[in-house]
Amino acid sequence: MIHVRVLPDADAVGVAAADIIDAVASRPGGAVLGLATGSSPDRAYREIVRRNAGTANPYRRARVFILDEYVGLPPGHPERYAAVISRAITTPVGIPADRLNAPNPDLPDLEAACADYDRTVSEAGVDLQLLGIGGNGHIAFNEPGTPFDARTHVTELTERTRRDNSRFFSGEIDRVPTRAITQGIGTVLGAGELLLIATGRAKADAVAEFLHTEPSLHLPVSALHAHEAVTVLLDEAAAGAIDPSRVQPSVRWQTADDRFSRESA
Ligand code: GLP
Repeated sequence: MIHVRVLPDADAVGVAAADIIDAVASRPGGAVLGLATGSSPDRAYREIVRRNAGTANPYRRARVFILDEYVGLPPGHPERYAAVISRAITTPVGIPADRLNAPNPDLPDLEAACADYDRTVSEAGVDLQLLGIGGNGHIAFNEPGTPFDARTHVTELTERTRRDNSRFFSGEIDRVPTRAITQGIGTVLGAGELLLIATGRAKADAVAEFLHTEPSLHLPVSALHAHEAVTVLLDEAAAGAIDPSRVQPSVRWQTADDRFSRESA
C-alpha cells in the first residue's frame, strides 16, 4: 500500500519526514535505518539534527545503511556518499562511525563487495528505508530497466543521472563517476517500511508517472507498488502533475482527519 501525503512546501515535508524517522529511531532496542543521499532528504536531516544534536538521543543506538556509493572517487573525497551522510546526519546526532555501513567501492573485487554488502543489509533487516526519486524514476542508483528482484550490484549511471548529479561536482559532468554500487530494487524492497520524499516541480512528472503506472521496468520506482508499507511525502509542486482519477489501486490519500482513503482530498 502507498500512503500519499501532500504538504504545502519542502520545509513541511522535511518536518513530516523527521517525525516518521524519529519515531522509528525511538523504538526499543535501537533501529536499523536505511538512509539516502541527494537533496531530497536534506531538510529532514537538518530537522533531525536540530532536534537531537548534542543530546542523549535514540539515534545513538541506531545502525545505518546507505543505499549506494560511487565507484572511482578516492577515499576521503567529500562526495563519497558515506562522507555525505556522515556530515549531514550521523556524526551530528552521534552515531558511531562503525555503525554507518556503506558499500565498499575500493575493493579490487567489486562483485564480492556487492555480495558482502547485500548480505549485511539483509541480515540486519532495515526497519525504515528513506528514498528519493531520480528525474528518470530511479531509486538508489537502479536505473530504468533494472529487474525488480535485483540485489546489490555495480551499475552504469545514465547520462541524465550524471548530469543531474554534476551539481555536486562543480557542474562538471566529466567529474561525476560513471559507475556506482547500489542496493538492488529487491534489496530495497526488503525493508520493513519505505519513506519516499519528493519536492519541487522537477520531480512532478516522475512522481505522477509512478502513481499512475502499473509496475514497469522502465520506471524503477514503480516497484514500490508491490510493497505493503510505503509512505510518500510530497510538496505541492512535486504533486502538481498527479491526476487523482488515474492513480493505481495501491494508492491511498491522506484525508483531513489524518486517515487514508482512495479519494484524494
Ligand atoms: C541520486 C541518488 C538517489 C537519489 C536521487 C535523487 O542519484 N543515488 O538515491 O534519490 O539521485 O536525488 P535528489 O534528491 O538530489 O533529487
